[in-house]
Order: sequence, then C-alpha cells, then structure tokens
Amino acid sequence: MNILMINGTMRKSSTYRIAKMFVERVTLSKDTVNELFLPKDMPEFCRGCGLCITRDAKKCPDYFIYLRRITRLIDEADLLVFATPTYVYHTTGQVKALLDHYGYRWMVHRPERSMFQKQAVCFATAAGGGMKSALKDITDSLKWWGVGRIYTYGVAVRSMDWDEVDKSIKDKIDSNVDWLMTKIVHEREHVTPSLYTRVLFYVMRYMHSRTFMQQVDTDYWQEMGWLGEKRPWIAEKPKTEEQAEAEKNEAFLKRPEAELFESSKTAEVPENAEATEDAGTDTMVRNMKRNK
Ligand SMILES: Cc1cc2nc3c(=O)[nH]c(=O)nc-3n(C[C@H](O)[C@H](O)[C@H](O)COP(=O)(O)O)c2cc1C
Repeated sequence: MNILMINGTMRKSSTYRIAKMFVERVTLSKDTVNELFLPKDMPEFCRGCGLCITRDAKKCPDYFIYLRRITRLIDEADLLVFATPTYVYHTTGQVKALLDHYGYRWMVHRPERSMFQKQAVCFATAAGGGMKSALKDITDSLKWWGVGRIYTYGVAVRSMDWDEVDKSIKDKIDSNVDWLMTKIVHEREHVTPSLYTRVLFYVMRYMHSRTFMQQVDTDYWQEMGWLGEKRPWIAEKPKTEEQAEAEKNEAFLKRPEAELFESSKTAEVPENAEATEDAGTDTMVRNMKRNK
C-alpha cells in the first residue's frame, strides 16, 4: 500500500504527532510512505485563471514546479492522510490553497479514476473547538474528488504544543488511533466506494449525459466510458481475443495511410503507376486502378 501524508503545517507538534502515530501503526513492511509539508511543498495560491477547469490541468502556472509531483504522489497513493491544525475554525490556508488547485478534479468536472478506490483519513487538532469545520474543509474536496472511503478524527488537545498535552488526552488519542486503524483495507482492489460516493457519481453521470455541463468535462466522462457501462471502481475485464482483434483492426483503419487511401480513391492515377514495397501503398494503388 502507498501512503501519502499531507501535513497542513510545517510544525511537528500535536497534529503531526497524532497523524504520524496512525501512519506508523498502519504501515506494513512492504508499504511506502511519502510526506508532504505545506506550504513548503506547494506554496502558491490559486490565481483563478481557471485554465485547469476549462482546458487542462497542465496549463496551471504551478503545474510544472509543484503540482506535477504532488499529483503523481496523490494518484499513486492508496491511502491519503491529511493532518491539519485548526486555525480560526478552519483548516490552514495552505491546505485550502492546495485543494483549490484541484477544483478541476471535482466530479462535476474531471475526477481521477483511481480516487474511487482510495481511502483517506483526515486528522484535525484544535485547542478547544473548530475541528469539525476544519475537517469539513478537507472532506468536501475528498468527497467531490470521489475518494472511496473517508474517515475523520478531530481532537481538542487543550494546548498549543504536544509536549504540554495532558496524559489523559494522549491516552484517549492512543486508543482512538487504534480504532481508526481497523477501518483501513490494505488491498486497493478490496476498497469499495461508499454509498455517498456512488450516488454522487450517478448524479454527476446523469448531468454529464444530459450535457448540462462543460463540453471538455463531458468529453472526459465519455472517454472514460463512464457514460456507458464502465465504472471507475470496477476493474476492466481482460479483453477477449475477438475484442483485441477488433481493436487492432480499428487502429489499423485509423492509421494515416488509411486516411490517404480514403481520400485518394477518386484521385487520378498516372498510367505508369506501379506498386511499391509498402503493403499499404500496394493495396492503395491496386484499388485505385480497380476504381478507374
Ligand atoms: C492562527 C491560529 C488559529 C487558531 N485557531 C483556533 C481555533 O479556531 N480553535 C481552537 O480551538 N484552536 C485554535 N488554535 C489552536 C490550534 O488549533 C491548536 O493548538 C492545534 O493543536 C495546533 O496544532 P499543532 O500543535 O500541530 O501546530 C489556533 C492556533 C493558531 C496558531
């Protein structure tokens, strides 16, 4: 299992320590763990150009410097772990800035296929209150990204520093982290998206199929096969020999020489036209002669 931890602060205090405790316990020897720290790993705010939404994520001015790497790590992860302290009742500005960059991945636009079989655990700490709204800032995006299973844990640590957190609170955290661990499925293929995710998917599918949406998004849904029978959480069946043969033939007919053949059916053929070594041209010349 690939685990990606996204830390909404550079501090390695309460929030980090709790999320890290979870990651360490859930990790098996064959698993990999990557950690991102915000704002270091993504210090830019969304500029609002909207190019990611209206055209392509690669058009974002932050794509090549920051997002390409982060997006790869997110897509490769089976388990996303978000850790945020509560700042004025919400997640930190840097987490919000990161999530803003992924607006194009909301189901209303172009969700990433692998999301539907990912799990996410979001941690929030606060001195006293606001964890719920801080967590919602993150889960709103995760739900609309299509993340299959989302778990949250908010805790009031009554302190600004982990070293000063009361032992009774630490003990409670310890057992809650153990409980959270039991929720995690280690094989991606065994993750089934929640009912909420599937209902949202079908509502969005209905809207895309009725073309109420932006064309580039509907084209994407079409291309993914989701407006037909394919579903992002169901692995594609291996192709039968006939299907593979049919696809090969279709690709053959789509090749540039085939187009040339189509457009040259009515072309004038010089008297002395002769077949060349190229099989495609050979067929073309013979056919042209027949047409004449
Ligand atoms: C700018 C700022 C705003 C905060 N806002 C809140 C808040 O709205 N509610 C709250 O209970 N604690 C608030 N806190 C306290 C932190 O959320 C709390 O101490 C948290 O556990 C810090 O996490 P950390 O130790 O991982 O940095 C705030 C702290 C800072 C620095």
